[in-house]
Amino acid sequence: MSLYRIVGGNRLNGNIRVEGAKNAVLPVLAATILNGGESIIENVPALNDVDTMLEILTSLGCSVYYQNNTVAVDSSNITSNEIPTVLVKRMRSSIVLLGSLLGRTGKVITNYPGGCAIGVRPIDLHLKGLRQLGAKVEMHGQIVCVGENLVGSEIQLDYPSVGATENIMLAAVLAKGTTIIRNAAKEPEIADLQGFLNSMGARIYGAGNHIIRIEGVRKLHNTSYTVIPDRIAAGTYMAAAAATGGEITLENIVVEHLHPVIDKLKESGCMIQTNCSNMRVAAPRRLRAVDLVRTLPYPGFPTDAQPQMMAAMCTAQGTSIFVENIFENRYRHIDELIKMGADIKVDGRIAVVRGVPKLSGALVTAKDLRGGAALVMAGLVAEGVTEVDGIEHIDRGYENLGRKLKELGADITMV
Ligand code: UD1
Repeated sequence: MSLYRIVGGNRLNGNIRVEGAKNAVLPVLAATILNGGESIIENVPALNDVDTMLEILTSLGCSVYYQNNTVAVDSSNITSNEIPTVLVKRMRSSIVLLGSLLGRTGKVITNYPGGCAIGVRPIDLHLKGLRQLGAKVEMHGQIVCVGENLVGSEIQLDYPSVGATENIMLAAVLAKGTTIIRNAAKEPEIADLQGFLNSMGARIYGAGNHIIRIEGVRKLHNTSYTVIPDRIAAGTYMAAAAATGGEITLENIVVEHLHPVIDKLKESGCMIQTNCSNMRVAAPRRLRAVDLVRTLPYPGFPTDAQPQMMAAMCTAQGTSIFVENIFENRYRHIDELIKMGADIKVDGRIAVVRGVPKLSGALVTAKDLRGGAALVMAGLVAEGVTEVDGIEHIDRGYENLGRKLKELGADITMV
């Protein structure tokens, strides 16, 4: 078992290149099944979740090649439509294979997905959408989805679920006729999936807005595509620079995707300058508390950046209020931050963070991906030594977090 050992107190300084987006690349990889040919994908981050998705594709019969952040998938020969349970349990995003495998082969056998324990995370909206396209879904221990002749449909989502929107898009690409998704998720990763699917000949319009139109096509072709930069990784490095009173420049970002985080960091006293795909963040010696951080679907403040922003606010001057509206169990980092001296009170969805002058190093446990990143950040500002274990959660979603922070001047080692 490995852990991060951090000696706090160093200000982050320097340049960092942000990796490709985990939440964009996973559905894009799932989508490679659809064209029955070759897909070349660039800017693929080296993450455990990516490895798991490639293992799943291989188990389904795809040939997969991955080197230097580029993946080539040949999906000509799909030999199985059963996703191995051990891999499904490892990664929640495996659920997006439901739509693509159904679209390609007409049948999927899978299990209820695993992933971060940040909430109940039902898949009712995914299954309801697939049923509306004509699939029959049975759940007897396993999930069995059958739908050889899917037909386009008008689907009103009860909630703009990211995964459900992706699954419906994937299943509808080769369906007969037109599908309209209303109240669709508007996250940039949805627009990226549209970009990838259209690059292989799909006809999808509107992703990034709340209505998406998918005109079914008969056949798709080979493609190559570059995925968007990871807005959550970028937000993590921005918050880390802010918390340590640092000054960093981020390269390979889409500024437009980062406005909710930029806005809060400006409120806390950071200077932020943007220029095309670069951003400079310069923090004051001590941050000011932010009034209110309410997580919301995009373009609201991302739930995936809430723990990191909270870690930054632990030592800010004043009191910050957080309201977590997306997941019901997304405050699991708080008990650990309290061990380090943070003053945080929680009541349901609300967390009140009173800034303290300093945190102290402690042994803490990462219980999920973004909460784990928040603990690493708290370690960067704490006095003394912090050890963060459970870092397998962090490796699922960050490409070399420790190494990148070290390059920015942090005293961090993997033990
Ligand atoms: C995706 C992201 C995750 C991010 C989340 C919200 C990926 C791989 N993961 O997760 O990092 O935190 O979006 O931005 O892209 N819900 C239902 N029924 C459903 C589906 C969802 O009730 O069928 C609820 C969930 O329990 C949750 C909310 O909807 O409360 C949001 O979930 P959703 O948007 O689906 O998130 P994910 O796709 O799981």
